[in-house]
Amino acid sequence: MPRSYLARGLKFIADDVLRKQGRNYYSTGGCRRLEGKVALITGGASGIGKTAAHEFIKHGAQVIIADMDSQIGPQAAKELGPAAHFVQCDVTVEAQLEKAVMIAMTDYGKLDIMYNNAGVAGPSFPPSIADLDLNEFDKVMQVNVRGTVAGIKHAARAMIPAGSGCILCTSSISGLIGGAGSHSYSASKSTIPGVVKSVASELCRNGIRINCISPGPIPTPLSLAQIGLIYPRATQEQLVEIVNGLGQLKGAKCEGADVAEAALYLASDEAKYVTGHNLVVDGGFTCFKDLPFPSPHEIL
Ligand SMILES: NC(=O)c1ccc[n+]([C@@H]2O[C@H](COP(=O)([O-])OP(=O)(O)OC[C@H]3O[C@@H](n4cnc5c(N)ncnc54)[C@H](O)[C@@H]3O)[C@@H](O)[C@H]2O)c1
Repeated sequence: MPRSYLARGLKFIADDVLRKQGRNYYSTGGCRRLEGKVALITGGASGIGKTAAHEFIKHGAQVIIADMDSQIGPQAAKELGPAAHFVQCDVTVEAQLEKAVMIAMTDYGKLDIMYNNAGVAGPSFPPSIADLDLNEFDKVMQVNVRGTVAGIKHAARAMIPAGSGCILCTSSISGLIGGAGSHSYSASKSTIPGVVKSVASELCRNGIRINCISPGPIPTPLSLAQIGLIYPRATQEQLVEIVNGLGQLKGAKCEGADVAEAALYLASDEAKYVTGHNLVVDGGFTCFKDLPFPSPHEIL
């Protein structure tokens, strides 16, 4: 047999083996990685959630945007097109989350992806733990922790009988290091990776994956409002610049699209063996500390 026939034959066999294993090693860039999937995104009317909704739809998903804001929610769904559907839902009210999940089940017949993303920053002032208003602390925990846990609970009720599903949650760099948010916000966000691991330990037996993403600072209404309290006279452009300036990675800034891409990966079959993980999307922000060495001429 001529060598070229042999080489082509071997390549055919190798490709066939890979196909049978359900794998391919070609770029996934052009593929619709969530074709036919149904996703529910809390806090999907703005910022990171809205960008993730756009990304999921681009990759073939139907997306339910569950947000408490009845003004921007329907607008966001309209902008995102016919694959987006708005449901008014306050994640602190368990019955509303349950209803949002029910809508996925009745209107679309299933829930493949639950993205618990809704969050609030809470007041940064007064800054001292000695002056912490525990009612404000409770409000932040209600949305960021209780709302996430309730979302996980009702997603699990829909996914366990199906024997599959993917749950995502939004944590933050404030959950990894102190000083990057208020005490209430940091406490709430540091709880999320723990919840994710705890639930992963149970749901892996049902074929359900759960992961969280910890983004760095991104100029969204949430972060801009916080920074605006420190710089009340700053323009919107100045506030955006301040938030972008917090990044450490030269030549790049953290954008909603970076988190949406991470969510897309975790939601897709490419992450089929990833569960209990905290995917940090922060350009290195939390992985090092500049040591405060005095400069040599100060020591002489
Ligand atoms: N922007 C950042 O720098 C940053 C960094 C790390 C983590 N995060 C987290 O990302 C998530 C999304 O925030 P974002 O920056 O896109 O802010 P955003 O303000 O643009 O969006 C938050 C959305 O959540 C909704 N929401 C708030 N409370 C809700 C509730 N009780 N029920 C339902 N919906 C509710 C709001 O209406 C809004 O649409 C939050 O969990 C936040 O803590 C943000």
